[in-house]
Amino acid sequence: MKFYTTAKSLFSVAADTLVVFVGSDTNSSPVYFSDSAYVDERLKGEVKKLLKSEDFEPTVGAIFVVQSHGMLPYTRVIIVGCGRLQEMTAFDFQSAVAASIVRAKQSHAASVVLSLPKEILERFTSFLTARLLTEAVGFGSYAFLPYKSKKIQEKEKDIAIVTVVVSASQVTETMKGIIDGSNRASGTIFARDLVNEPSSVMTPSALARAAKSLAKQKTIMCRVFGKKEITKFGMGSLLGVSRGSNEEPKFIKLSYHGGGKKTICLVGKGITYDSGGLSIKPSSSMETMKCDMAGAAAILGVFEALASLKPKINVVGLIAACENMPSGHAMKPGDVVRAMNGKTIEVLNTDAEGRLILADALSYAEKYIISDCIIDLATLTGACVVALGEDIAGVFSDDTALAQGILAAGLIAGEKLWRMPIATAYEKDLKSPIADIANVSKVHYGGAITGALFLKEFVNEHMPWAHIDIAGPAFAEKETALTRYGGTGFGVRTILSFIEAQAKKM
Ligand code: BES
Ligand code: MN
Ligand code: ZN
Repeated sequence: MKFYTTAKSLFSVAADTLVVFVGSDTNSSPVYFSDSAYVDERLKGEVKKLLKSEDFEPTVGAIFVVQSHGMLPYTRVIIVGCGRLQEMTAFDFQSAVAASIVRAKQSHAASVVLSLPKEILERFTSFLTARLLTEAVGFGSYAFLPYKSKKIQEKEKDIAIVTVVVSASQVTETMKGIIDGSNRASGTIFARDLVNEPSSVMTPSALARAAKSLAKQKTIMCRVFGKKEITKFGMGSLLGVSRGSNEEPKFIKLSYHGGGKKTICLVGKGITYDSGGLSIKPSSSMETMKCDMAGAAAILGVFEALASLKPKINVVGLIAACENMPSGHAMKPGDVVRAMNGKTIEVLNTDAEGRLILADALSYAEKYIISDCIIDLATLTGACVVALGEDIAGVFSDDTALAQGILAAGLIAGEKLWRMPIATAYEKDLKSPIADIANVSKVHYGGAITGALFLKEFVNEHMPWAHIDIAGPAFAEKETALTRYGGTGFGVRTILSFIEAQAKKM
């Protein structure tokens, strides 16, 4: 897919498909921008008439297609709703763009022109609009096809040329936004592909190889530690989880050197398959558990993008990777493991394994990484999905500046996050009669919070730390224009926006 931008009039560019946006007013009646008015004029007023007779409501992602019958240099015009302009979020805009791309692909479009009216450019700035648009075009045309037939792969062929039409003064910023957006989309899609691979392929070793492949870039370094080194580190908690599996655990360390004084440390949950272990899951809950390395995948996606975005900041990524399986060697409920920081953990439920491997990864971060903050990403709890639904991630942090920084980054990036409390009143529910802490709460409720409280035990009190529970949005079971069934790459863009903001702060 190739992107171009131009300030030419819509009628001196040509393609098989033109996309124009239509907003709505408070009564959800269409509000046309100058470009669609121009299209309407060329089609002799037929477009507005048609939309009216069909009662078209330009809600976010609503689509209407008209044929141009040779009166425009396009075969068809896709009219896409973007909802009320004053309230349009980055997510809404991306949903609208992706919906138009999905529709264009249905018509086997090879070339698409998207027209960006000044009303939309002004809503986000032209740089951000172009960045959001480019990402959304990438997501709208994404498909994971390595296990599909040649015929289907052929059918899903990408749109070859995408041209973005803006006014002359916006061309430079738009170009920059397109480059930025394609790098960020590429990182997100890198993460999606990793999650979509079956767990038989995406083993801890395969995840480590994916990390190593990123170190070909000269700003990125990668080290992979195997079972021997993990044992030497004293990561008894990670080892405990991996004991039931035939796959070797891996501890992965990535670093990006962009200069500047700040360092951000990212920590990812890399359970390449979560069967629950001996506290085994019901089979229906296991169907999507290849997604349990989505936190790790998001971090790899971030690094993939960092190499080309080159922000002036340093980033360390730590990934604990293993499988959670039952076997004669597996950890048993009631077993006690010792994490790298010396704390003992009574494992009452082997299905609360994410926090166990993160305990060691966070301990490692505290011991060996000098950083300004730690952010972990994990598909940690079903309880977080109960609380916030499938679309929204939970942000847990006692550091308000850090939490707000992450929420602001999400808003700009078009990802949905919501702050959750780390309620210390529930700390007592994690007490164990024989170890320093139990890995699950005695109380059935508030599972996302007790998960965060457990993790907190492995982070230094003074370290700004945030935990992002992505159990809901990491994997899409229902399809939208932006997310096909499968991995979503959630978190990559929010973290990139957060890193960008931190780099600019100095
Ligand atoms: N990987 C799961 C959480 C999860 C659930 C991710 C749904 C994605 C979708 C995690 O390891 C888990 O099993 N958590 C348990 C914790 C419980 C035993 C305290 C859960 O949520 O049930
Ligand atoms: Mn589990
Ligand atoms: Zn898990």
